[in-house]
Amino acid sequence: MSIAPMMDWTDRHCRYFHRQISACALLYTEMVTAPAVIHGDRDRLLGFDGAEHPVALQLGGSEPAELAEAARIAGDMGYDEINLNVGCPSDRVQSGCFGAVLMERPELVADCAAAMIAASTVEVTVKCRIGVDDQVPEEVLPAFLEAVSATGVKRFAIHARKAWLQGLSPKENRDIPPLDYPLVAAMKRAFPQLHISVNGGVTSLDQAEAFLADGLDGVMIGRAAYHEPYDVLAEADERIFGAGSGPDRFEVIERMRPYIARHLEGGGRLHQITRHILGLFHGQPGARAWRRILSERANAPDAGLDVIDAALQPMRRLAA
Ligand SMILES: Cc1cc2nc3c(=O)[nH]c(=O)nc-3n(C[C@H](O)[C@H](O)[C@H](O)COP(=O)(O)O)c2cc1C
Repeated sequence: MSIAPMMDWTDRHCRYFHRQISACALLYTEMVTAPAVIHGDRDRLLGFDGAEHPVALQLGGSEPAELAEAARIAGDMGYDEINLNVGCPSDRVQSGCFGAVLMERPELVADCAAAMIAASTVEVTVKCRIGVDDQVPEEVLPAFLEAVSATGVKRFAIHARKAWLQGLSPKENRDIPPLDYPLVAAMKRAFPQLHISVNGGVTSLDQAEAFLADGLDGVMIGRAAYHEPYDVLAEADERIFGAGSGPDRFEVIERMRPYIARHLEGGGRLHQITRHILGLFHGQPGARAWRRILSERANAPDAGLDVIDAALQPMRRLAA
């Protein structure tokens, strides 16, 4: 099981938080473009905490030499996996000819993957859609997997819907094109040697377990894990990975305290972390108070751990 790459959401603070709930789930970064990895501020764009392992960097790009260099840098920085984005439909990404539009260019994706594999010491994986626009997924998806896996890519995460590159916003492209789970399951049967994770619309561990029982190798969860992190992640170690059970919600916050304190001491702002933990008490009595206190008070320039204490107070009272 993995937590999907999500721009502006799965930053290092979010990943550290998710890691406190599940020790085993694979965590993906936001997408970082290959030129940004090569020329940008590496600590800001790529820095992560050792506690986040296993953690995968997602790269965006379509220039094999650039992607190879970015993959080499990321491997040297200690990422456990480098993932190539062939699924993101945003305009900006399309204009640079990468993301989902690459579903139309399997040979180019294969060239990119081959260059990344040659340059990197860690595993290279691909996240893709089932097709774009008027492509026929039953035809293009197997051809895509065939071409790209020939370079040595063994693991794919497939968002089980098309991206419609004209007329839909990125957000609509995550909801409107219909999901086709049977096609993803069929790909596992057609390519039994590949590790195939299904992505898109998975909201519970029950659903994830059903996919795994159905023969899929993995399940990647995005929005549900962000909005309801405890519900999705807390039992994952036990139910999916056969490991020990995780902490309760209050213990999660205790585990976050030293991390938050370090962040504040280093000049960071509280809301940069608390914005990711608003969903921790989702579905619990008092969840609205938790969200409200954090949202209203964590933005203040001098906001500190006392804001967390204040937000926890009603939760403790209601849980007692
Ligand atoms: C805010 C947001 C940002 C996203 N950014 C990325 C991204 O950087 N790279 C990517 O491959 N997918 C990105 N996605 C798509 C997710 O990885 C995932 O494929 C999609 O949300 C479907 O899974 P879900 O239904 O479990 O959320 C993003 C999704 C959201 C909601």
